[in-house]
Amino acid sequence: MSSEPSKPVQIGLLGRGNVGAAFAELLTERGAAVEAATGRRPELAGVLTRSEGEFGEILERSELIVELMGGTEPTREYVLAALRAGRPVATANKQLLAQHGDELFAVAREAGAQLRFEAAVAAVIPIVRTIQESFGVAEVARVFGIVNGTTNFILSEMAARGAPYGEVLAEAQRLGYAEADPTEDVNGADAAAKMAILARLAFHNPVGLDQVSYEGIESIAPDDIAYAKELGLSLKLLGVAERREDGISVRVFPCFLYGGHPLAPIQGSFNAVTVQGPAVGEVTMSGPGAGGLQTASAVLGDVVSILAGEAPVHEPRERLPIVREAVSSFYLHLEVADRPGVLATVADVLGRNGVSVRSVVQRGLGADARLVMVMHAGPEESFYAALAEIAPLDFVRAAPRAIRVIEEEFV
Ligand SMILES: NC(=O)c1ccc[n+]([C@@H]2O[C@H](COP(=O)([O-])OP(=O)(O)OC[C@H]3O[C@@H](n4cnc5c(N)ncnc54)[C@H](OP(=O)(O)O)[C@@H]3O)[C@@H](O)[C@H]2O)c1
Repeated sequence: MSSEPSKPVQIGLLGRGNVGAAFAELLTERGAAVEAATGRRPELAGVLTRSEGEFGEILERSELIVELMGGTEPTREYVLAALRAGRPVATANKQLLAQHGDELFAVAREAGAQLRFEAAVAAVIPIVRTIQESFGVAEVARVFGIVNGTTNFILSEMAARGAPYGEVLAEAQRLGYAEADPTEDVNGADAAAKMAILARLAFHNPVGLDQVSYEGIESIAPDDIAYAKELGLSLKLLGVAERREDGISVRVFPCFLYGGHPLAPIQGSFNAVTVQGPAVGEVTMSGPGAGGLQTASAVLGDVVSILAGEAPVHEPRERLPIVREAVSSFYLHLEVADRPGVLATVADVLGRNGVSVRSVVQRGLGADARLVMVMHAGPEESFYAALAEIAPLDFVRAAPRAIRVIEEEFV
């Protein structure tokens, strides 16, 4: 882009909701700082909402497009049209990138137009820039973190107050931490989209949302959290992208962390992401993972980067297969009849399937008992095979509940 100091840069803004409105305000407030940093004063060329503006006209008048509409259609068409017209784009849209990344990055490369998306993962935490630029040629072994603030708020509150999931979710909605429709947050899809983006960048590999295995937190019960507390564990919804011998694995799942784990202290709506690699060691960044102003601030950072010049173009260097098999340790909660031989039978099924038990807590419950067990790490398929044998046994009173456990020294 040219850098005539006196000519303002015209920005086309798609969407003026939570983030878009905050971005428009920030552009005015921080305009002088943007000019000082880049030599160009930013100006809004036009705004598109459902009731205002026409995309073609806005594109015509703009040098740069900021996409804060959300959704995948017609957003995808607008972003592609902008890139094809040679306009750089800054976006906060994780689902768009996770579902259509291959197409968008290919068009950006062909057109030689920058596509920036810092705000799409963990809002204001500069994890995209760090992985893409600072660690751009470093070998990354693993990226993992808490990338959804809504679920971390819910799990933190459930642990602090012993309140059930539904009650805490309603409170999160009242406080504005959860959307009116929180489905994508609580079922893990939002975190999965963010992990697809981080995996793509960390491993220079095409990764789409459909290659991420994900589970949410909808079926977590307060007593799971209470029992786990006794065992020194705290519950988080974790995203993990890792390089394996035979490919890469990208997963999102609720899991218990031991107290010494770097992500165990992350509370409330905060996000945190850790990057590990042989030359990187271990780097963790944490901060607010959502919010109109915070997200808009990350988008404005992208605008400054675009105006400042060249950006790293994402081009996959590898074509590693996605591996779905995993090795995990599990917490198992069983409600069983309180009679002799039950624990021995459960232990026998686990043993025959190659699952070894690390700790057991047993509690009486009238005629029934609760068995809370934590296993040593092993192949997930062995654990699930044992679970399939245990669930129908005549002394089992309720559906068994299983949650992964991450040991403190590794993920
Ligand atoms: N909110 C956060 O904390 C946060 C954090 C990180 C990333 N993000 C991402 O930022 C983006 C925007 O989120 P938001 O919370 O600001 O959303 P929002 O409040 O729902 O605002 C969306 C805006 O886009 C406009 N829009 C939607 N569909 C449109 C269409 N088909 N044609 C024209 N305009 C359309 C809406 O127009 P109307 O005003 O006419 O309805 C509204 O102005 C999303 O991709 C989201 O995932 C948000």
